[in-house]
Amino acid sequence: MSFQILGTGSAHPACSQTNDDLSAFLDTSDEWISTRTGIKSRYVCTTETISDLAVEAGRAALRDAGVEPEELDLIICSTIRGDYITPALACVVQNRLGATCPAFDINAACSGFVYMLDVAAGYFARKRVKKVLLIAAEEMSKLLDWKDRRTCVLFGDGAGAAVLGEGDGLRSIRITTSGNMDVLRIPNVQGNSPFGETKDCESYLFMDGQEVYKFAVNAMCNDIRTVIKEAGLTEDDVDFVLPHQANLRIIETAKKRLGIPPEKFHVNISRYGNTSSAGVAILMDEMHRAGAFHPGDVLVISTFGGGLTTGACTLVW
Ligand code: ACO
Repeated sequence: MSFQILGTGSAHPACSQTNDDLSAFLDTSDEWISTRTGIKSRYVCTTETISDLAVEAGRAALRDAGVEPEELDLIICSTIRGDYITPALACVVQNRLGATCPAFDINAACSGFVYMLDVAAGYFARKRVKKVLLIAAEEMSKLLDWKDRRTCVLFGDGAGAAVLGEGDGLRSIRITTSGNMDVLRIPNVQGNSPFGETKDCESYLFMDGQEVYKFAVNAMCNDIRTVIKEAGLTEDDVDFVLPHQANLRIIETAKKRLGIPPEKFHVNISRYGNTSSAGVAILMDEMHRAGAFHPGDVLVISTFGGGLTTGACTLVW
């Protein structure tokens, strides 16, 4: 017993900042950003909190699925950082939606949506749940050094959600971790304990872009090939590939290597930037609402991110 997707939703902040907007306070340009990444603009929270976006995406997914909050057996959120260290973002969402089920967060950075699918699959397999709400919600704008042009231009804020019900939609799933603090990290806030040395530490994102790039292309190709094979399918059977929206060039390189027709790869990075784990969930919701998916269609999702983590799966719609 695995699950099928019953509905999807997404939400983004009202404020969109173009590359030109950033070049007003940063030594950068639309030309540099768009040719190297495919990003033209990104949404950033101003008055919204990440809980607001998570709740809005969750409500939209519940409406789409025709499921009431009281029917939920589990809520999982994926986030690098919710509004609180505790309670978890999922607990805040549970309260605001009026649900009563258990709720917890996972953090697998940009791979979080696939990690949530894998955790949920375990609950369905043990027959512990009938309806599950997954929300990936990220407020990257609070984790960036807005003076660092190498990183702050790449990311955006947003949330994507899916409601799962019983079914056999999940055909294969793979998660991997290669513990590495050198190429991508965000330090945690420091306390003020009188018993140890407290160092000044800024909790901004650090990334060695070229190392992440190399890791990402290899991981994406390997994971996509593996999950298609493990589903008992071939590249020809795949209708849609939803890759992590980190950099258009990574997706273009993976496309060429994989030999899957390029039109099967889908992107929306130009409007969102990299919204970490929310990226593939937002993309799935936009495609679903545009009527892209039909029953029986085969979707491959592939993600990578801090950890270093990767996650990929094959789903039948
Ligand atoms: N505007 C103008 N110039 C810039 C900018 C900018 N925004 N950023 C960097 N530069 C400059 C640098 O200062 C450097 O100048 P210098 O040679 O005078 O020192 C030059 O451009 C080249 O810098 P690099 O960092 O080497 O640029 P690169 O070609 O590697 O591109 C990029 C950087 C786009 C980040 C690329 O490495 C990449 O996409 N890597 C993958 C990143 C990724 O996928 N991250 C997300 C995964 S993890 C997650 O999702 C959380």
